[in-house]
Amino acid sequence: MNRLFTPFTAGDLQLSNRMVMAPLTRGRTGPDRIPNDLMVEYYRQRATAGLIISEATIISEQAAGWVNTPGLYNEEQVQGWKRVTDAVHAAGGKIIVQLWHMGRSSHPDFQPGGALPVAPSAIALRGDGIHTPSGKKPYPTPRALDADEIPGIVADYAEATRLAQKAGFDGVEIHGANGYLIDQFLRDGTNHRTDGYGGSVDNRARFLLEVTEAVVGAWQPGRVGVRLSPTGAFGDMSDSDPASTFSHAARELNRFGLSFLHIMEALPGHPMASPGPRVSPLLRQAFQGPLILNGGYDAALGDQAIADGEADLIAYGVPFLANPDLVERFRIGAPLNPPDYSTLYSGGAQGYTDYPALTATP
Ligand SMILES: Cc1cc2nc3c(=O)[nH]c(=O)nc-3n(C[C@H](O)[C@H](O)[C@H](O)COP(=O)(O)O)c2cc1C
Repeated sequence: MNRLFTPFTAGDLQLSNRMVMAPLTRGRTGPDRIPNDLMVEYYRQRATAGLIISEATIISEQAAGWVNTPGLYNEEQVQGWKRVTDAVHAAGGKIIVQLWHMGRSSHPDFQPGGALPVAPSAIALRGDGIHTPSGKKPYPTPRALDADEIPGIVADYAEATRLAQKAGFDGVEIHGANGYLIDQFLRDGTNHRTDGYGGSVDNRARFLLEVTEAVVGAWQPGRVGVRLSPTGAFGDMSDSDPASTFSHAARELNRFGLSFLHIMEALPGHPMASPGPRVSPLLRQAFQGPLILNGGYDAALGDQAIADGEADLIAYGVPFLANPDLVERFRIGAPLNPPDYSTLYSGGAQGYTDYPALTATP
């Protein structure tokens, strides 16, 4: 039998199978960033995943940088998420929330008082532009954070973690991947600081480790995971030595006894794949807890990665987006619905809750 269908315990999370739904931003809230009925239905449909990791969810107004993505910093958002977690639990599933601060990947149009977005260093994202509520605009040069502002942001992660408990989540994932604030601190392409948060790998990992300590302190380590993308270029990201930077981060994370480490490192041929040697095997050695791999896996490759000891769990992004019953389809070898890329962030039910599940044959 395919190993994906065997149960697994990741920290305090007892999972009925090893298929994780990867975090997927879908832009379905309104400007209030409150989870709504459509989102309740979308997550409920996917509750057969061993674990759902929610779409990236901002921890404060400063953390924002994407239209109509959910938040977890006020009571209305807690109540909205409560309806999502209740629906997933009623359907027998487990769901954790991905905690997000976008750092430089933002624009004054999203920021309180129209301020500049914040980052480790004042280095602008070189990219095609950012979608703001009033159309596409160039990325601004962010403002480098003062060291004395960092404890306030760490505290926002801890507060969002307390709200996650209140909202009925099974845990949280710290979003340290894909070029957002924590990743901007980790990699030397975006971190040119000369204080205790920049320079050496030790210093660049400091923010991640402070956030992790605060989040674990706000709940318990067995309910906390971390996502990293050591070689991902998304968000104009680079590092001069990803193997050293991320091996160090993974080793340091051992001290917390986390539920899991989640590595997004796409397989060759995937649109998000990077050239050069893979770092995830080094992180498997460095990190002593459960490991999730993600990026271009199918049923056979996922089974093989578990059999080879490369990972304990496999996360699926686009396949889950287009197939609410992905677990069942993998189980019986059924064909998959193709994804509709035009509706990824389009708002509304189309391309969101209307992907068909398999119908039972009479
Ligand atoms: C529409 C879309 C939204 C995404 N949103 C997030 C997100 O909110 N957080 C995150 O860490 N990764 C996000 N990702 C990356 C996915 O989690 C995943 O790493 C990627 O799709 C590769 O996995 P796959 O080949 O199984 O799809 C997103 C990807 C897509 C296609």
